[in-house]
This record gives sequence, structure tokens and C-alpha cells, in this order.
Amino acid sequence: MDLNAIKAQVDWDISQVSSIQALEEFRLKYLGRKGIVAELTGTIPTLPKEERGCFGQEVNVLKNKVVSLIEERQRSLGAMPVQACAGSVDIGMPGIAQKLGQLHPLTQVIDEICGIFTKMGFCIVEGPEIESEFNNFTGLNIPLEHPSRDAFDTFYLKDNAGSPGQCVAKRSLPEGDQVTTSPEKFLLRSHTSPVQIRAMKSRKPPFAVIVPGRVYRPDAVDASHSFMFHQIEGFLVDTNIKFSDLKGALETFAKAVFGEDIKMRFRPHFFPFTEPSAEVDISCIICKGRGCSVCGRKGWLEVLGSGMIHPNVFKHVGIDSKKYTGFAFGMGIERIAMLKYGINDIRLFFENDLRFLKQF
Ligand code: PHE
Repeated sequence: MDLNAIKAQVDWDISQVSSIQALEEFRLKYLGRKGIVAELTGTIPTLPKEERGCFGQEVNVLKNKVVSLIEERQRSLGAMPVQACAGSVDIGMPGIAQKLGQLHPLTQVIDEICGIFTKMGFCIVEGPEIESEFNNFTGLNIPLEHPSRDAFDTFYLKDNAGSPGQCVAKRSLPEGDQVTTSPEKFLLRSHTSPVQIRAMKSRKPPFAVIVPGRVYRPDAVDASHSFMFHQIEGFLVDTNIKFSDLKGALETFAKAVFGEDIKMRFRPHFFPFTEPSAEVDISCIICKGRGCSVCGRKGWLEVLGSGMIHPNVFKHVGIDSKKYTGFAFGMGIERIAMLKYGINDIRLFFENDLRFLKQF
């Protein structure tokens, strides 16, 4: 056999190797039990004695060359050692597909709504779930005798001695917040509106803010109530802000979430922190306003509370209500998600049943 021809063949063969399988074939062709190197070695005893040493050395050189070419190509193919691969792992097997999880339907709705408002120029702000009574009620112009302050409607935290309310304010309040000298009561926020107080104190108008977050109310759990749910609060303050600005922002929002054909109406209402106030209804997305069981035959579905920010709220946060006006609104996310996806039981959101969650 012509060793030079074989060497040339080796160079050609390795240049054609572009896969791990081809590399294994190359290895078998030259280094396999019946490969070319073995065959050459087998011919040594048949040679004249004086040629054997020299020929043997050349076969060795060839063998080493093949080994180093294989190692080099293994590296360039980013592969495991060929022998290990071929022996124990079927490298042709498809990999194990990793199932991707997905966002919770409520997170998806929160992201969608925040996205709609950030496109309008609102920025996202978050606040703590443990709040001072001041931020949750007093700062929002909610009077002491208001029923929502009642322990039936709000979760108050116990103080160190175990009685409701009267926690020591100083350590618990976040930086930059107003610290009263008298001990303050703390609670689980019952709406996202206290973030109005926090955000307005630390900003100068104009600003537009959107606040997603969890809120808590001691409601008995049933198909439409949960002691914890989610709200999105929005507010905008500038000179010359009018009710029509509120209307425009909310209409843009409703059309983006429920489609261009959706109708909206503002019903006069009362909130202590807005004046005038309105509840906002959308035309029923099930019956398109004709009346069905979802809308209670009314043709309309209530989706949020809103209004123009009350001057007393501006006073609490140090904004001049003669110079600035603003609007605020708040909506329950579970309700919007239930309407959007046709879900009839709020508990489904919190049971973490994958059969439910996988559908979104
Ligand atoms: N905080 C009110 C609620 O929870 C909603 C609201 C927010 C109403 C802002 C008006 C303005 O019901």
C-alpha cells in the first residue's frame, strides 16, 4: 500500500467531515479494528526484515496524525469524545422538550392595561400593601366616621400588645413618607388609592401615574368575592385638566381592551376623594347591550370608579388646587379579566389549578 496516497486520502476525508456521525465513520475507516491502520500494521510481518522498522514508524506517524485530526475536528464540532458518544448515547435522538410556563391570566391583564396607559404617557408606580391609616383614608378625604374605615371592611394590623391598630409608625413607614409624632394605625390597604398620596407628595405636576397592586378587604369568599384582589389606579395632574380628559383616557383604554365597538357611560357617583365622581359602565360584552344574565338584563357592566381629584386631597399632598386639577380612576382587575375571558368564578384565579391556568 502506498503510504503517501493514504496520507493524501486522510487529508481529503477529514476535510469532508462535517458532522459527528461522519467523524465516527472517519475514525472507523482508519482506526477501527478492520481499519486502514490495522491493515497496514498487519502487513509488517510480511515485509523484508530491514524495511519493517521504518514502515512501522511511518504507520505510527499516520496513526498519530489521524488521532490528532479527530481531536481537532471534535473540538470544532463542539462534541463529546466520539467513542463515548458512539458507545453510550444515541446522539441522533431528539432532545427532551422543556415546557415553557406562562404568565398568570391576571398578570397578563395587568401587563396589557399598564401597556395601554404607558403608551399614553403614564408611568408605573407601586406602593406597599401595608399602609398607614392616613394614606388609606385620611389623606384621601375619607372622614373618620366613614363605614369603609370599619374593621368589617378593612384589615387592621395589631400593635405589639396585640390590640388592633396603634402600631409604632416611625420604623414601618418608608423613607420620604410623612411621619406623624402620634402612633399611627396600620392596615392592609383596601384600595390602591393611597398610592395617590405617596406619589403626589414626591412629585411636582405635571405627572401621570398608573398603579397596579394587591388590595385586601375582609369579604367572605364566594364566586365573586375574595379577601385579596387586584386593582389598577390611575391619576393625572396638570394645569387645565378637565373631565373630558378623563373621558378620553378611559375611552382609549376600554376600546383597547374590549374592542372598538365598545360603548361607555359615566354614571354620577360619590367617592370622598374625587369631585365630581362617576362610575363607568361599558356596554355588555356578552349581549352587546341587549340584556343578558351577565349584565343583569341591564345591557351595561360596571368596570371602574373615577372622578376629578378633590381639592382636599391636593391640600394633604401640598399641591395648589387653584393652579392644578387632575383626574383619578380605579378598577378591579379580576372583574375585567372575568369579563374579558368569560370566567364566572373569581376563586379560579387563586387556586393555581394548571388545567385552568394553561388556557391563557
Ligand atoms: N378607590 C376606589 C375603590 O376602590 C376607586 C376609585 C379610584 C374611585 C380613584 C375614584 C378614583 O372603589
